[in-house]
Amino acid sequence: MELKQLNAFIAIADLQSFSAAAKTTGLSQPSLSRQLKQLETEMGVILVDRYHRPLQLTEAGQFFYDKVSTVLMELNTITSMTQRLSAPSATLNIGFVPSVLYGLLPEVIATLKRNNSNHSPDIEVNLKDISSYQQIEALKTGEIDVGFGRFAHQDAWIQQVLLRHERYVVALPKSHPLADISEQRLIDLVNNRLILYHQTHLPVSTAYIPPSHMSTSHTKATGNGYLDSKQEPVTEPLLHLFAQHNITPLMTTKVSDLQVALGLVAAGEGITLVPASLQTVRTEQISYQRLVHENVTSPIYLHTLKDFIHPKIPDLLDAIYQVYEQRGITYRKQQFV
Ligand code: BEZ
Repeated sequence: MELKQLNAFIAIADLQSFSAAAKTTGLSQPSLSRQLKQLETEMGVILVDRYHRPLQLTEAGQFFYDKVSTVLMELNTITSMTQRLSAPSATLNIGFVPSVLYGLLPEVIATLKRNNSNHSPDIEVNLKDISSYQQIEALKTGEIDVGFGRFAHQDAWIQQVLLRHERYVVALPKSHPLADISEQRLIDLVNNRLILYHQTHLPVSTAYIPPSHMSTSHTKATGNGYLDSKQEPVTEPLLHLFAQHNITPLMTTKVSDLQVALGLVAAGEGITLVPASLQTVRTEQISYQRLVHENVTSPIYLHTLKDFIHPKIPDLLDAIYQVYEQRGITYRKQQFV
């Protein structure tokens, strides 16, 4: 069994057509079809049902596709990591979710550059706005060397360092009756339209499942904002924070990102919760207030590969801790494995 046969099979399966697969692989159609035939003969298994248009995988073909595509992806990761090990790039490619850019990321990078200013050559940093889940793939392909995100990931190739837990604040329109109350409770927000903006949801395994034995006053009436005990696991991050206090907001609106959510709050269309570092945004129209609940927080993680750490990443972690110390931020020092 040869790698080129496997690549031909994956291209045919992905595109469900010999001609489309020939175009993307740069092979001729007869050569592609020959690779597939050789693979099937060697295995003694028909993988692709050629009588269907578009082409379809047989049941065995589907099983083989699922397993082999994972192996080929791992092989790509290993190849890219090996290349980086032999010649690490001078540039440090950093992936980040937008909410950390409003926070300490610019200061961390300035500190890293200042600390490195005596070294030659100067450190070059390249920043990429990239979602939490996409960061994991981007680390494997080498598109980024390190990623900052707000979700934990369990992946055999990735190590994560929990940097800190940042408290959420409530963002209310300036004209809102609660806008001047400095310590807010989630239950007092329940009658407001909550604007949801996360594109990433929590894995069902870590999602909040309402207890089935809650007291009657909390389980019967959903109209009062408390959770219905028959509810599904809550995976949307903001609803999850409310759910941990057995609360369901009565009205929600989903938007594409944090900026849009704050735009709607500014326009008086609802309220939202944002990590505290966002509280400098649109302060003419938005009032940000603390929440009384200490556990309503958003974690910040640094993600990198387990087996290959870019040589500048330890300096980056030092710069982060230096910024935390200068600002009096509580954190627990972590090491790379
Ligand atoms: C922070 O806000 O803690 C942070 C943000 C970006 C990079 C590192 C830390």
